[in-house]
Amino acid sequence: MGRGSGVFYGCGSTSIRRGGLLQRCSPRRFRARVAGVFPSSCTALVVLLVSSALVMLLLRKAGDVALRTKTVAGHNLEPTPWHLFPPKEDAVSGGKAESFSRASRILRCSYLTCPASSSFWVATSSSSSLSSRCRKNKGTPNGKTQQRQCPPFFLSIHRDLDPWRQSRISAFTLAAAKEHAAMRVLIVGGRLYVDLYYACVQSRAMFTLWGLLQLLQRYPGMVPDVDLMFDCMDRPAVLRSDYESGDSAGSRWPPPPLFRYCTTKDHFDIPFPDWSFWGWPEINVEPWDEEFKSIKLGSQARPWALKHDVAYWKGNPDVDSPIRMELLNCNDSKVWGAKILRQNWVEEAKSGFQESKLSNQCNHRYKIYAEGYAWSVSLKYIISCGSLALLIDPQYEDFFSRGLIPRENYWPISRANLCKSIKSTVLWGNAHPTE
Ligand SMILES: *[C@@H]1O[C@H](CO)[C@@H](O)[C@H](O)[C@H]1NC(C)=O
Repeated sequence: MGRGSGVFYGCGSTSIRRGGLLQRCSPRRFRARVAGVFPSSCTALVVLLVSSALVMLLLRKAGDVALRTKTVAGHNLEPTPWHLFPPKEDAVSGGKAESFSRASRILRCSYLTCPASSSFWVATSSSSSLSSRCRKNKGTPNGKTQQRQCPPFFLSIHRDLDPWRQSRISAFTLAAAKEHAAMRVLIVGGRLYVDLYYACVQSRAMFTLWGLLQLLQRYPGMVPDVDLMFDCMDRPAVLRSDYESGDSAGSRWPPPPLFRYCTTKDHFDIPFPDWSFWGWPEINVEPWDEEFKSIKLGSQARPWALKHDVAYWKGNPDVDSPIRMELLNCNDSKVWGAKILRQNWVEEAKSGFQESKLSNQCNHRYKIYAEGYAWSVSLKYIISCGSLALLIDPQYEDFFSRGLIPRENYWPISRANLCKSIKSTVLWGNAHPTE
């Protein structure tokens, strides 16, 4: 304790004994002067005490407000009523908490409140233009050579947005989409605003928004204003049949424009790249750039000839997925040529994810993809392994899977006769190593 705090202490303790703070303190003024940093009279001390009490009160109020404030981490939000999940406190605990808080700090400090980064919002646009590069693949009038074309599967975007081509999107239609949305995202003049309605499971909301913020940072001045409703839970919600046919369907047109991570042929939901492209800390998955590099390295550990000659799947079968349950029945290397392993995420988290590293799962010639509760983010990691990907007839499409070509990028496996279908593919593949 320094001398200053000695004065403070002396004053407080004597006042208790003699009663009356002012009385007892006045003769001791000189000590305060010696200390230099404390008020020169007890009146000032009272002012100090009152003001610090006020500051404390203010801080507590601020704390209350902070506690009640809705955040992208979703601590003060209810889960979406259409897909319930355990409260946030349970999801973010133990070892996961560290990477989670690291991620949220990066997010905050990169984009939200850190003053140093505020200049990023007014950064001027660079000379390359996203919009000129990503128009429909028509001929470009000014010099075809320097223009990079969008991959053909970007054309799916036109199909996704087709329902609103004629009708456009009114505030009324957007309000209908809000009924299924966990958040509303507004981009105006290169700034992102978000209105949070419900919590998203784990850190999905945060990583999804982070993706959008990176887009704004990477293409300053090129991202048009947008007002979109987003549901971050798994299954699509806007059924085509509710809007396309039947007597009442006509009056309901257009359907609500709702973004999410996947869709199906029977839905109007608009697919958006899933959050795991920017990271999924709860299960130790790095952002795509890093994860992809490490998987590529892992895939080179064994040449094809030395990879195990069976089909491999590891995941969580307990996600209300009939196909994954059925897959468990094919777990026999000799009989079905398949090795099916159960992923226990709770155990994995405890042991530091040593057994679930994606880069260590590229040692088999065949990797099976099976949908979970809806689409599965595992698809991109499975395909990155460089093994032959065996895709069990997917029902859901995500943003990128629409670009995959059967028998070129993957081998289709039928749901009927699942084990037999896997076995015959494995046998054929092993017999034709050069194909
Ligand atoms: C599949 O079989 C292997 C070897 O018999 C076993 O270790 C593994 O636990 C089985 N997988 C499941 C999901 O039961």
